[in-house]
Amino acid sequence: MSSTRVSIIGTGLALLRLIQAQQPATSDPGNPALTTWKCSTAGGCVQQDTSVVLDWGFRWIHTAGGYESCTTSSGVNTTLCPDEATCAQNCVIEAANYTSAGVSVSGDSLTMQQYVESNGVYSNASPRLYLLGADGDYVMMQLLGGELSFDVDMSTLPCGENGALYLSEMSATGGRNEYNTGGAQYGSGYCDAQCPVETWKNGTLNPTGQSYCCNEMDILEANSMANAYTPHPCSTTDCDKGGCGFNPYAQGVTNYWGPGDTVDTSKPFTITTQFITNDGTKTGTLIEIRRQYIQNGKIIPNAKSSSGVDSITQSWCESSDGSAATFGGLTTMGQALGRGMVLIFSIWNDGSQYMNWLDSGSSGPCSSTAGNPATILAQDPTTHVIFSNIRWGDINSTYTNPGGPGTGSSSSSTIVKTTASHQTTTTKPTTTTTTTSVGATQTHWGQCGGQGWTGPTACASGTTCQVQNPYYSQCL
Ligand SMILES: *[C@@H]1O[C@H](CO)[C@@H](O)[C@H](O)[C@H]1NC(C)=O
Ligand SMILES: *[C@@H]1O[C@H](CO)[C@@H](O)[C@H](O)[C@H]1NC(C)=O
Ligand SMILES: *[C@@H]1O[C@H](CO)[C@@H](O)[C@H](O)[C@H]1NC(C)=O
Ligand SMILES: *[C@@H]1O[C@H](CO)[C@@H](O)[C@H](O)[C@H]1NC(C)=O
Repeated sequence: MSSTRVSIIGTGLALLRLIQAQQPATSDPGNPALTTWKCSTAGGCVQQDTSVVLDWGFRWIHTAGGYESCTTSSGVNTTLCPDEATCAQNCVIEAANYTSAGVSVSGDSLTMQQYVESNGVYSNASPRLYLLGADGDYVMMQLLGGELSFDVDMSTLPCGENGALYLSEMSATGGRNEYNTGGAQYGSGYCDAQCPVETWKNGTLNPTGQSYCCNEMDILEANSMANAYTPHPCSTTDCDKGGCGFNPYAQGVTNYWGPGDTVDTSKPFTITTQFITNDGTKTGTLIEIRRQYIQNGKIIPNAKSSSGVDSITQSWCESSDGSAATFGGLTTMGQALGRGMVLIFSIWNDGSQYMNWLDSGSSGPCSSTAGNPATILAQDPTTHVIFSNIRWGDINSTYTNPGGPGTGSSSSSTIVKTTASHQTTTTKPTTTTTTTSVGATQTHWGQCGGQGWTGPTACASGTTCQVQNPYYSQCL
């Protein structure tokens, strides 16, 4: 349906298309800067020159000389893309429009929307982003024997939403190669412990539908009603898909996480996750993943089950997860954290399981149908998550103990930013320098949105993009 060529695109484009391949269509990927900090006990926190990049699969890939989509709802147009080399000759990939992707960044604060509004109509955005370094490769965060802190506002995430911050062991370059010179700067190379089968694998067209498994550490999968953190170690061919997660509600602490609860999800707070090794070094064996929160100027220790469990340890993994032994549990997870992993941000909901594994039944207080995306869209179309103030480094160096002295490098003036001083909820759309997708306009009756849609989201004059269902929006 997107095969109609639209001829109103600006003329400057042709000049930028000298390079063939499913190469960048423009010279500037337009990825918004997101300030982060790397911390050490000795040196305090040092500001990093980082940005976020939207996943490759969310982008418009189209013919090099025109505006015909090279992708379809189920993969690629096999006439244009029978193999990597031909696809690279025929097609280019566009810089993202972050505003229409539901992403806005201001300073150190990242806001992600489940749905985006246009002319009073909401369509599904559900963005996924990676943290990119100044060198154009992904930041390979090495957290073994270290910790990660960030602030989060998930007050608008209802049952069924998942505001996620996690790590996967993707290739640092996103699989950049001769046919994909953009690589990480265009968000290629996604993998995780569910072994996804995607149209591109490690930056290369994947016509045979191979899965792409990699070690994954879920730091936060949560909404305002429930949360879990979960290691998912892998072998070379498969992963611990269930993992040995810690969810306070599932541990019987049902008043820990929620609006007005111990961790009051109606307001922002800080989350710190520590990866403790057997010998306290950054090369030791991972033996424990600890967790704490800071809110209203107080450190809140993790919830503790009636049997005394308040963190993830190897023995906890072996007792709660039948696959832990197969995949090596924390030991394997720790090796990946030592090599370095890519930081990923996403917001999503789930049309088949309604996210029940996270927040319903024994996992949380939500009803088994509350997470239906249609219900979320009808009741909470502006649902979003805000991640900010991201810091990583030595144990106890990334947060300030609000209770007083004695905590790590709290003398460092650069880490005095805590949740209390950081409750910015107003967000400014980022101005990207993308200019080439301006004219990407869908014709009357054409698709303009929906989960997985990577084509144009603007409609021809006189028509508007209207949501038919979470998977399909149409210019009417
Ligand atoms: C695939 O591309 C060819 C060549 O441009 C075009 O003729 C055909 O209609 C496209 N198929 C689909 C399903 O879009
Ligand atoms: C990005 O999309 C927004 C709306 O979704 C639109 O208003 C804006 O003009 C677009 N920006 C560019 C540079 O295409
Ligand atoms: C991904 O691609 C990069 C660059 O081509 C390569 O170095 C790396 O080994 C690949 N990783 C996997 C798991 O295939
Ligand atoms: C980090 O701080 C905690 C709590 O104050 C303390 O128990 C622990 O020993 C500290 N760890 C390191 C490595 O400084």
